[in-house]
Amino acid sequence: MPTSADLHRRRGAVVARGVSSMIGAYVDHAAGGTMTDVDGREWIDFAAGIAVTNVGNSAPRVVEAVRAQVERFTHTCFMIAPYEQYVQVCERLAELTPGDFEKRSALFNSGAEAVENAVKIARYATGRPAVVVFDHAYHGRTNLTMALTAKVMPYKQGFGPFAGEIYRVPMSYPLRDGRSGADAAAYAIAAIEKHVGAANVAAVLIEPIQGEGGFVVPAAGFLPALAAWSSAAGAVFIADEIQTGFCRTGAWFACEHEGVQPDLITTAKGIAGGLPLAAVTGRAEIMDAVHPGGLGGTYGGNPVACAAALATIETLRELDLAGAARDIEAAARPRLEALAAKYPQIAEVRGRGAMLAVEVVEPGATGPLGPVPDPVAAAAIARAAHESGLLLLTCGTYGNVIRLLPPLIISGDQLDRGLTLLEQAFSTSAPFTP
Ligand SMILES: Cc1ncc(COP(=O)(O)O)c(C=O)c1O
Repeated sequence: MPTSADLHRRRGAVVARGVSSMIGAYVDHAAGGTMTDVDGREWIDFAAGIAVTNVGNSAPRVVEAVRAQVERFTHTCFMIAPYEQYVQVCERLAELTPGDFEKRSALFNSGAEAVENAVKIARYATGRPAVVVFDHAYHGRTNLTMALTAKVMPYKQGFGPFAGEIYRVPMSYPLRDGRSGADAAAYAIAAIEKHVGAANVAAVLIEPIQGEGGFVVPAAGFLPALAAWSSAAGAVFIADEIQTGFCRTGAWFACEHEGVQPDLITTAKGIAGGLPLAAVTGRAEIMDAVHPGGLGGTYGGNPVACAAALATIETLRELDLAGAARDIEAAARPRLEALAAKYPQIAEVRGRGAMLAVEVVEPGATGPLGPVPDPVAAAAIARAAHESGLLLLTCGTYGNVIRLLPPLIISGDQLDRGLTLLEQAFSTSAPFTP
């Protein structure tokens, strides 16, 4: 059996440098809230493969459904010979996503592909070109979604030219803009009306809680105000719930926390327990505007991925994993708040459910952006966590946010061990001296 060091050497000779990995350990197996590497070391998982394995790795129902489906058939292409599993996933999406109106869905492979298709659909349905996105947004790495994504390095650097008719406006970021949700929305709307023109807007696209951009939770009222403006302007309000969806934030979808019913919603990641599947779901009249054959792709809604999604949804429901996400928050938030009380480097604890973060800054320093971000300190914490066996991610436009994304089935004991390792990472990493 090769060691991680062996695999790392072999990788250097054949894997493109542009695809990097956070840790040097290679996975042997993973289940529940832990991962074991090929050297036999166990890790506590606070990453869930970037918010994918909400039901845990190799969740029993998912394994069983995938095995049964693989034995029946693996692929026909829904555009050639359709099958029930695709229809069932669309039925579940119609029931689970916010909004009690008639809905349609189309299935794809990745989050970026879902976002691209949501934009295609919104442009087709409205006959308008412009897409409004926000500061700190992350929507993917394809050409169109790079244009929608805010951060240049590493996502966009050197990869242009980018798609046109994308307009970026200010996000509500309470720690940094100090605005109420209503004021932040008024500010963003004024920018849209002045720089884009309401009549040109096909879609307003937003993550209800930003993921890669720093787990930014907009001030209350920001999302509803934008949704209301979109509706009045005849634009399609698209919620990108690719990271926040499928119980991650303590509800099936993060929009529910503010009673927002998006016209379209993009989902991926947590939908299928680790298999690649994504969807655009939304109002029937918008989705059905597109001519037959206008949407699709070879693998979109692959039957094995659909079987995994159906088993994932059953698991989320049966184990009440939205409740589990709220329990994770109840256990973790006080400990993060205690860290914030101890370390002035923590400017804010934020997030919802099992999507929690701390923003790391230079203590006492204020610049044009507000508290001065400290990405070096955040990286030191993450490194110390990795050395102690905790899979922990950073994020944020400024790279200074430490985020927690455990699988929702993580046991109380595993969560406690992970939080203890995080606390130790703070106490052992310079310059964190209380
Ligand atoms: C909010 C959001 N949108 C889109 C994407 C892109 O998804 P994928 O990596 O599956 O293309 C991500 C991935 O992190 C995401 O968090």
